[in-house]
Amino acid sequence: MSRDRCRYFGTNFKMHQTPAESAQFYVELAAMTGALEGVQLFVIPPCTSLATVVAASDGHRERIWIGAQNMYWAPEGAYTGEISGPMLAKLGVDLVLLGHAERREHFHETDVELNKKVLAGIACGLRVLLCVGETAEERSFGVGAETISRQLKIDLHHFPVEAVDRLLIAYEPVWSIGEGGVPANPADVEAAAKLIRAVLTDLLGPVGGVVPLLYGGSVNPGNAAGFAALPDIDGLFVGRAAWSVPGFRDTLDAALMDHQS
Ligand code: PGA
Repeated sequence: MSRDRCRYFGTNFKMHQTPAESAQFYVELAAMTGALEGVQLFVIPPCTSLATVVAASDGHRERIWIGAQNMYWAPEGAYTGEISGPMLAKLGVDLVLLGHAERREHFHETDVELNKKVLAGIACGLRVLLCVGETAEERSFGVGAETISRQLKIDLHHFPVEAVDRLLIAYEPVWSIGEGGVPANPADVEAAAKLIRAVLTDLLGPVGGVVPLLYGGSVNPGNAAGFAALPDIDGLFVGRAAWSVPGFRDTLDAALMDHQS
């Protein structure tokens, strides 16, 4: 993460944790990271925990955003089981995660649908953290760059440039995520980050070059520093390693080594 950029660091609980556990995590995290400056933290619990975490977040929200893992693009309607952007905004949520690899794979989210979700999330005032990344199969055919470009071009189609300060991108190669995931090589992450910046600049103009760009996929205290030091990476998006407060703190400390020195 280059020194002149704000740094971002957060975790997605996926389908884990009760409301009480999520709130306890948030409160303990706030206490453990109280003195930290210049770093934007975020926590993305399951939707059943959002109201409880929001209620527990008094006084810490500027430092530790609360995010939702998904939303539907329509503001309301006959869409049983779905949650809309305005519902999340009313709840007091700061951001919505869209396009996570698990949503794309298990729930067959398409880029065209994601485009509607991105625009809807932005329209109701939320920040959007959009995930992009190639699968192992796409990589094996040498079309990783094409996949990333396609995802960005479709997902961000007609993105309103005036709302660019509410957009964050996470590069998460699918083969690096979760159990059995293989951490990426930092040099490959930097190449992907440069590509993402170029596509964002094409799509959004010069402001595309300063959209926060996070890396995610099997990040842990042992490899966080290598990703965090990359010139085009502004933050880390962590799963398993940050699901306990000490794990979150250890991974964050490793990522911030160059920042604090
Ligand atoms: P992981 O998850 O750190 O457990 O690989 C990352 C993610 O799914 O964003």
